[in-house]
Formats: sequence, C-alpha cells, structure tokens
Amino acid sequence: MRLIKVSDYNEMSETAARLLYEKAAEKPEAVLGLATGGTPEGTYAALVRKVKAEPIDLSRLQTFNLDEYAGLSPSHPNSYYKYMERKFVQPLQLNKMQFHIPNGEAEDGEKEAARYESLVQESSGVDLQLLGIGENGHIGFNEPGTSFQAKTHVVTLNKETRAANAKYFKQIEDVPEKAITMGIGTIMNSRSIILIVSGKRKAQALKRLMSEEVSEDFPASILHSHPDVTIIADKEAASLL
Ligand code: GLP
Repeated sequence: MRLIKVSDYNEMSETAARLLYEKAAEKPEAVLGLATGGTPEGTYAALVRKVKAEPIDLSRLQTFNLDEYAGLSPSHPNSYYKYMERKFVQPLQLNKMQFHIPNGEAEDGEKEAARYESLVQESSGVDLQLLGIGENGHIGFNEPGTSFQAKTHVVTLNKETRAANAKYFKQIEDVPEKAITMGIGTIMNSRSIILIVSGKRKAQALKRLMSEEVSEDFPASILHSHPDVTIIADKEAASLL
C-alpha cells in the first residue's frame, strides 16, 4: 500500500480527483468504482472543476457505485442514487446508462444484489475503485465480520454506522437498517484502489489499517493483500501514525 500524506481535506480531494481524471483521460472506456459519504464530496467537486477546465471525452466512461440503502427509492433525497446524480452524473453530463448503483427499492434485495454483481462481472472490470473508510474499518457497507470472499449482498447496518450516517437524515430512526453493498471480494477484483481518509475521527481507523493485522474484524485490512492500493490521508487522519 502506498500512503500519500497531504495537508488537508482540500489537498486530499484534489489529489484523488487528479488520479480519477488521469485514469479517465488515459482510458476513455474506463470503469470507475465510486463511493459515497462525506469524504468523497470534495473529490467529485474537484473532478468536475478539472473536467470543466480541461475537458476530456467521458462518453464511454462506466461507473459502478459501491452501495445503496435498502428501502430508499432512487428519488429519495438521502439515497446514494440522488447523491451521485447531484454530485457526479449531472455535473459531468453523463448519460444515466453509464452510471450503475444497486436499486434500493428492489423488492427482493438478494436478487438485486445478484443482478448487480453480474453487471459488475460482465463489465470489463473496475479499473479504479475509490473508497472511503468507516470508523470501524468498514469499506462499502461491509461491516466487521464480513467474509473477505463476499460478493454483492444485503447487509444489516450496525448501530455505529447508522449513527455516523444519521447526520444526513432528520433522525437516526430514519436511517435504513439495511443496505446492498458490493462485497469485499467484488472490491478486491478492481485493478487499482484509492482510499481517501480525512479528519481526526478517522485517525484510529487509519492507524489500525497501517498495522500488520489482516482480519475480518477490520474489513479494510484486506487491502494489504491487494497489489495496487493508494491511500491519500490528510494530516488529521494521519495524526496517530
Ligand atoms: C458509509 C459508506 C461508505 C463510506 C463510509 C464513511 O457507510 N457506505 O462507503 O466510506 O460511510 O463515510 P464518511 O466519508 O461520511 O465518513
């Protein structure tokens, strides 16, 4: 794993955006794996600015998001579909057919997970996967204890994860209890991975990730076994290293 330490959130966002931009510029038919949450917001904004300043052809780009809340329709203001539409798909003027995310309102979540997994497998494979990390080491919505082999599946979110995401909802009770997420096995199939980490809140998780431990109790630790991982961490996140 390569660790790039940067000064702050802005520099982290600019650095990650540059890597995404370079991938899309060098391979117009690239498949990007995308994440949601607070951390990548600045990355998407920086990418949009860069594409506006130095336009590239994005018409053949394909994107696959990591996860979606189960039970939220794509039009729900807190769905990850809406998040991506607002911050990525519309500002980059992508066609909806280029953008993929699990359908949160599917009646049968496991069936939807299997459909989504097949879509990812049938693509040419994720070239570059952007990841954030949860305070408990989760990636996507793969909570501690998830098998490293798991493919896209339905997960029950634990209390801490729901609490961490409650700030986007009116109250914690409104945070869905389940989600559909790419599994760790799916994520590990991507050719390259960028993990972005920002703020004091993530310092402990980054410290644990940088230790030697590889354990299903700390999902992100599997990244030690991937051949091409770049971690971009700001000063606060790296403060315990
Ligand atoms: C959510 C998402 C993850 C994200 C994590 C951290 O649970 N499913 O993909 O990495 O939260 O979010 P944040 O960046 O807001 O701290």
